[in-house]
Amino acid sequence: MLWSAVGGVSCGIPAGEGHSMHEDIDQILISEEEIQIGIDRVAESITRDYRGKDFSVVSILKGSCVFASDLIRRIPIPLELAFVAAESYRDGTDSGELKMNFFPSEGEIEGRNILLVDDILDTGRTMWSLKAELMTRGAAEVRSCVFLDKPARRAVEYAADYRCFEVEDLFVVGYGLDYAGRYRNLPFVGSLKESVIASKEAASRASGAATTE
Ligand code: IMP
Ligand code: MG
Repeated sequence: MLWSAVGGVSCGIPAGEGHSMHEDIDQILISEEEIQIGIDRVAESITRDYRGKDFSVVSILKGSCVFASDLIRRIPIPLELAFVAAESYRDGTDSGELKMNFFPSEGEIEGRNILLVDDILDTGRTMWSLKAELMTRGAAEVRSCVFLDKPARRAVEYAADYRCFEVEDLFVVGYGLDYAGRYRNLPFVGSLKESVIASKEAASRASGAATTE
């Protein structure tokens, strides 16, 4: 993977007035160009594997919306699209309970081949739980496709069927991935400056349980 310092790199977005998100980025880890190449490669595999097969892409909100929208437009075979919102509440006491919303309706699950799409496979709990739930509700098959894979963080045994990039054990933002709800609209994947994390951590400790999507 290419690591390039953000200083001097033009991201094509004017900073505008006031605070720019780009000022909070330490390093660009995956550039826009690299992202497109990674998605093309995965979209080709998915197209090959699903040709002649009915299937639905289920995008896990909010994080995967950017990736899913780019991915499906590179898959030139028929598919259906659905969404599920998965929120894990991590208050430090246990592994975090998963709350699901916008879950696909019965007709969208029963007997369907489902491709679950997420922004990042971290501990694996979100994917593991969603797959189990979809299988329980009668899906014929559930595969998964992730934009990023962070295998060092895995807490449950889970491997994605398709993945664009493997990343180190480092908190990343951009291209759908957030920190405290922000940075999803960055067109690249980057790491945050430590000073940004330190100041926001203090604020989230004060407000109680952290929520991720
Ligand atoms: P898992 O259940 O631990 O695999 O959690 C996956 C979810 O955690 C992702 O969908 C993200 O919302 C969030 N997450 C994990 N790692 C990161 C990261 O580095 N940046 C932003 N969000 C992350
Ligand atoms: Mg997410």
